[in-house]
Amino acid sequence: QELKLNLEQIEKGGYEHFMLKEIFEQPKSIHDTMRGRILVDEGIIKMAGIWDHLERFKNAHKITIIACGTSWHAGLIGEYLIEEFARIPVEVEYASEFRYRNPIISDKDVVIAISQSGETADTMAALKLAKEKGAFIYGICNVVDSSIARITDAGSYTHAGPEIGVASTKAFTAQLTILSLIAIKLGHHNGNLSKQDFMKLITELDNIPNKVEEVLASTHDYVKEISKQYADATNFLYLGRGYNYPAALEGALKLKEISYIHAEGYPAAEMKHGPIALIDENMPIVIIAPKKGHYDKIVSNVQEIKARKGKVIAVVTRGDEQVASMADHVIEIPDSEECFSPILASVPLQLLAYYIAVLRGANVDQPRNLAKSVTVE
Ligand code: G6P
Repeated sequence: QELKLNLEQIEKGGYEHFMLKEIFEQPKSIHDTMRGRILVDEGIIKMAGIWDHLERFKNAHKITIIACGTSWHAGLIGEYLIEEFARIPVEVEYASEFRYRNPIISDKDVVIAISQSGETADTMAALKLAKEKGAFIYGICNVVDSSIARITDAGSYTHAGPEIGVASTKAFTAQLTILSLIAIKLGHHNGNLSKQDFMKLITELDNIPNKVEEVLASTHDYVKEISKQYADATNFLYLGRGYNYPAALEGALKLKEISYIHAEGYPAAEMKHGPIALIDENMPIVIIAPKKGHYDKIVSNVQEIKARKGKVIAVVTRGDEQVASMADHVIEIPDSEECFSPILASVPLQLLAYYIAVLRGANVDQPRNLAKSVTVE
């Protein structure tokens, strides 16, 4: 027993929990996921799985992304990425819904499954159905040689390394990295991205591990500190727009999973259609507001929240003044291309969920009722 405990201590590498270790591993896991794939000097993205089947992707009538949980959130960001850069229509579906609704899929379709474990029963079943209907099926898995990786026609592994914490962190940002690579590569080959834009994007993506490192260094202590003020909250709202709407969903999911606080993610503009009724001085609202995309719209969302005395924790671009001046707590992330901002914004939100859960005495690595790999329906 003692030996087992010691071994676990070693595996945790000095961190109190696997989750914290995995959050801190992200500069490396993102880098590992890009290694050998982004070649900035040569101006190329190397991905055999895409390259070998380029015509299938180029001629796809649509791309359907299927996944569950956190992987589904990555899929939503994948939709924004692929539609923006490759201009191919994308649908994102919960695997469990897709498989039971006789989806319209043909041999002109590409179906991408995203799964950390590669074993999720619903995702597997949905893929089998897509395969039967003649679609080209592509896998984005973390576990090498997993069931999903084996039945797909092609795929790209996220090289995040083993993820032990049930709440997914580094697998999620690795999935976003792969989806970015796919979207940019497809856009490059089908002529939607100019060479100049392509170079700008890959140069920035290549630099994201450094920026994640910077986010960890600059936000960790602050997030740990402010989590004390929110550990007793009973509800949380997470808001974001565009690329950061799915990041808001993911931030809320992290908090729910490990701290058992009820949290909802919403597209910020939908706030007026319901959640605004919940806002009072007891409602903490995490708002992801980098200075790109629809910044001015987010500013008015924050004004609306403050007029109702909601507590605002804002994730902003370094140097921001407008949102920062209204927010109760300000978490700064470095400037980046809008499409990569969910990677940067997710990191402090993972830390926030983590520290709140620790303060509540929850079992962070193995939250109640949840499983790392859901192999039953
Ligand atoms: C479980 C895990 C989640 C994960 C989801 C999908 O619910 O607790 O962290 O996001 O399954 O898992 P997958 O392995 O398919 O990505």
